Amino acid sequence: MSEETPRKSVEELKKIFDLHGKVAVVTGAGGTLGHALCRGLAAFGADIAGWDIKTDIMADMVAEVQSIGCKATATAVDVTNDESVKAAMEQVIKDFGKVNIMVTVAGTAGNRQPAETFDINEWQKVMDVNVRGTFLCAKYAGAEYVKQGGGGKVITIGSVRGFLGHPGGYAAYGTSKGAVHLLTKQLATEWAKYKINVNCIAPSIFWTPLTEQVRRDPEMVKIFMARIPMGRAAELDDFVGACVYLASPASDYVTGVILSVDGGAVAG
Ligand SMILES: NC(=O)c1ccc[n+]([C@@H]2O[C@H](COP(=O)([O-])OP(=O)(O)OC[C@H]3O[C@@H](n4cnc5c(N)ncnc54)[C@H](O)[C@@H]3O)[C@@H](O)[C@H]2O)c1
Repeated sequence: MSEETPRKSVEELKKIFDLHGKVAVVTGAGGTLGHALCRGLAAFGADIAGWDIKTDIMADMVAEVQSIGCKATATAVDVTNDESVKAAMEQVIKDFGKVNIMVTVAGTAGNRQPAETFDINEWQKVMDVNVRGTFLCAKYAGAEYVKQGGGGKVITIGSVRGFLGHPGGYAAYGTSKGAVHLLTKQLATEWAKYKINVNCIAPSIFWTPLTEQVRRDPEMVKIFMARIPMGRAAELDDFVGACVYLASPASDYVTGVILSVDGGAVAG
């Protein structure tokens, strides 16, 4: 190994996933994946600012994060609303003094419909929450990171549906997640000069209110499982490792990546 290649000590290496002293905003923190990621980030030491449409749905998350020994807040935010996101970010700075990690989990599947009769207002609602909402949260996090002198992590949530079409009426959802993937790469490219890492986690399927419509349809479940080489839906903790990695110093040289956590769904 070259003498000129800087290397961490073993003690430093053991801390590359450490999140103590970091403040993470997690949107959709009252939802299934959002709550699980708050818990996972807190397990590695991060304080959590939870954002969701209503505060009461984040009560369990706040209690759980506090029981781990980290600080947690819950703020009502509509991620599609510029003023709401801006005000929530100001609140984070008041409450915690800084922000280091933004995880944009808030999302909707909307009502899946055949493309030829898709209601355009329903289509737009999905685009608003998934694309506009992701952009606004990333934008205000990025602005803070720049003010703080650079550095910071943005983790978006994409989907296998952002890579591949599906027979099940995904003209809005799939399109919105494809946009989230490209937005991730765009922000990564623009913000590399500020040492801001922007990456995306792309899940296949896991069972939540968002996928209830699929779970109730045995034919659809069969189609989904046939497309996942590992043959099962994800468990919530399958996403924690990816999120902690992308939130921590371990991924400081990784940006613009869409990390599939999908049982092999996009592998072939
Ligand atoms: N469940 C899956 O199989 C699956 C697969 C791939 C990607 N995803 C993505 O994972 C993310 C989380 O989904 P989930 O399955 O945990 O669903 P969920 O319904 O449990 O959680 C979604 C959360 O987003 C919040 N939300 C919706 N609109 C909002 C708004 N305008 N402002 C603030 N918050 C809002 C909801 O209140 C809810 O708490 C979504 O982005 C989803 O697209 C889910």
